[in-house]
Amino acid sequence: MVTNEFWLDRWETGRIGFHKDDVNPKLMTFWPMLPKGSRVLVPLCGKSNDLIWLAEQGYQVTGVELSSLAVVQFLGDNDLNYVTHHHGELKIHTVEDIPLRIVEGDYFHFCETDFDACYDRAAMVAMPDTMRARYVTHTLDRLSSNASVLVVSVYYDGDQQGPPFSIDDATVTQLWGPSIHKIAAENLALIHERYRDRGHSVYEESVWRIQPNLF
Ligand SMILES: C[S@@+](CC[C@H](N)C(=O)[O-])C[C@H]1O[C@@H](n2cnc3c(N)ncnc32)[C@H](O)[C@@H]1O
Repeated sequence: MVTNEFWLDRWETGRIGFHKDDVNPKLMTFWPMLPKGSRVLVPLCGKSNDLIWLAEQGYQVTGVELSSLAVVQFLGDNDLNYVTHHHGELKIHTVEDIPLRIVEGDYFHFCETDFDACYDRAAMVAMPDTMRARYVTHTLDRLSSNASVLVVSVYYDGDQQGPPFSIDDATVTQLWGPSIHKIAAENLALIHERYRDRGHSVYEESVWRIQPNLF
């Protein structure tokens, strides 16, 4: 069962194959141009360097992550100075040199609102189907009414054991609403043998965007 303890154990035992040291190329390709200072939410951020890239674009970035190990590794690996304060059950680490905060704790306890944008890579697909709708609703509730959203999802055949969990197109649209659109898709099973070795002939990674009119 994918519970909070499952994720804490993954970090404690170093089973974090989802982590990539490089900035996600799909983020760099498909992230919309937003005004500097826009507030960007990154749910279930792990220790992703995508956070650094977003902050370097001039946005005010907030990542939310359950595992204190992930947070400590992220701040340490990037040699970041920060101050920490407590807010209810959450710890908020504010980085001093770049516009970035890491909120440590359960995402479902994070209640700030009015974010201008959201970046979801390996977050929605980390949620089992029983929690997926709650995750998306909680995320949409954090965003302003004209927020931009970029989501990277996966859909695969064969063994359905996640995470990441396979989500078909209709479900993505049903969860995020009719304004979400698929803007790119790549069948990784045609490119990387390891997906075929695991029995997948389809392992499609898709990029979805909600892009309201900015002006
Ligand atoms: C598949 S990883 C993706 C991490 C990151 N987005 C990336 O691209 O590397 C999912 C992350 O969500 C975190 N997580 C899972 N459930 C959470 C929750 N309820 N609140 C906050 N973080 C959570 C896990 O600890 C894990 O680091």
